[in-house]
Amino acid sequence: MRSEVGIMSRRGFIVAGATAGTASAAALLLPGRTSGLAALGRIDGVADVRLKPAPAAAPLMGSGKPDVQVWAYNGQVPGPEIRVRQGDRLRVVVDNGLDEETTIHWHGVRVPNAMDGVPHLTQDPIRPGGKFTYEFVLKDAGTYWYHPHHRSFEQVGRGLYAPLIVEEHQPIQVDRDVTWVLDDWRMDSSGQISGGFGSRHDATMAGRVGNTVTVNGRPPQPLAVQSGERIRLRLINAANARIFGLNFGGHRPQIIAIDGQPVRPHEPNGPVVIGPAMRVDLILDAMGSPGNRVEITDDFYTGGLEYVLTDIVYSDVPLRKAPLSTPIQLPPNPLPKPQLRGAPRHELIFAGGMMGMMGGGGMMRGGMMGGGIMGGGGMMGWTVNGVSANGHDHEPMLTIQRGRTAVMNLRNETAWWHPIHVHGHSFRVISRNGKPTQHKEWQDTVLMPPQESAEIAFVADNPGDWMIHCHILEHQAAGMTAAFRVT
Ligand code: C2O
Ligand code: CU
Repeated sequence: MRSEVGIMSRRGFIVAGATAGTASAAALLLPGRTSGLAALGRIDGVADVRLKPAPAAAPLMGSGKPDVQVWAYNGQVPGPEIRVRQGDRLRVVVDNGLDEETTIHWHGVRVPNAMDGVPHLTQDPIRPGGKFTYEFVLKDAGTYWYHPHHRSFEQVGRGLYAPLIVEEHQPIQVDRDVTWVLDDWRMDSSGQISGGFGSRHDATMAGRVGNTVTVNGRPPQPLAVQSGERIRLRLINAANARIFGLNFGGHRPQIIAIDGQPVRPHEPNGPVVIGPAMRVDLILDAMGSPGNRVEITDDFYTGGLEYVLTDIVYSDVPLRKAPLSTPIQLPPNPLPKPQLRGAPRHELIFAGGMMGMMGGGGMMRGGMMGGGIMGGGGMMGWTVNGVSANGHDHEPMLTIQRGRTAVMNLRNETAWWHPIHVHGHSFRVISRNGKPTQHKEWQDTVLMPPQESAEIAFVADNPGDWMIHCHILEHQAAGMTAAFRVT
């Protein structure tokens, strides 16, 4: 079980972390329930949270096994699940207990630039022992998460990440609201996290894919259900590099949101594919028979790498005979609609990586492979429009006028998958490989298969300098990152 974190809002609730297979605190949060904590003198509409990133020990391998040395928010992996309601103001005081600098990035949340947590670009990094206060209003409902943006390939890789759930004013009706934060660790033979973060091998290939998958920081536990139950399953991929492709046996889950943003409910066309940093909200109507057991499998990586993530286990007592017939379409978020006509188009070409040198390009020649990303120059591996950027503080690659629609054609010219993330905005995926998408999904991270392209569009309504980068954290560190400016 994850421990509780005391988060109070005008609704005066205390939020508990969700655990695999058990209900989250959502049931406590339905409108109209209050518990009188307002008497504590909290300011209306503000949720106050204290987060302390620091070394800790966590039972990643299960309660029977020795604890694992991790870096964690408030001593737990994942860190505390922050649950607020759309329109709330969130205030978070970060108290850095690490031996190195850090920041927090509110992944997918449309925050003001100064709250985006990008070291050197939007704030000074928080020194060891230092404090920083983040404060912003949650404009959009949905499933988000937070993590450091400083040396994230190691800080996230050691356990610094947590869910941020923004509830709708009018939530859809479900029996349970369950958060699953998926992660993937590279453990060594002693049962501890192996070192070598940011190795050249990982950086130039698939990233640091591990050997141990956890759900909510534990070995995956079966999802206990009752026949007829409707579950909203919020999946968050917090892994540095692993992509998940989940199958739910005979179940027919409906995707209702991607990266927090509502989408017309639809069945996935194959497995539910979740790239690093992405979120998918599913409606799972558990319509198996009482006493049944159904496997949830992950077959994203094939050729013997498929595995059973966990089971859906039905109790003997059914809840109801037919699935709920109430609507599962989420209310839209207040996103400005891109106007495609006449919008400037920007080409972003992602290149490099291990096979990138086969083409005879100069990228890997002339010593650019030397040093490794931890070394002085750090320039190797990946490029955006021919530039392999180092760190966060670099000149914007393009400037967009505030309020204008920007169309970006992202082209993956590598032999690898890349989840490309845009800060400060949600975008619509309007086409893939030149073909219009069916759902015009709003996302903040688009997973790009090798040699494919995707066109995204958004209204640049959030002024400031913003990152666009690959969320395979080793790729980001090795140059697959750029900045754009909204003026
Ligand atoms: Cu989730 Cu730029 O990061
Ligand atoms: Cu990448």
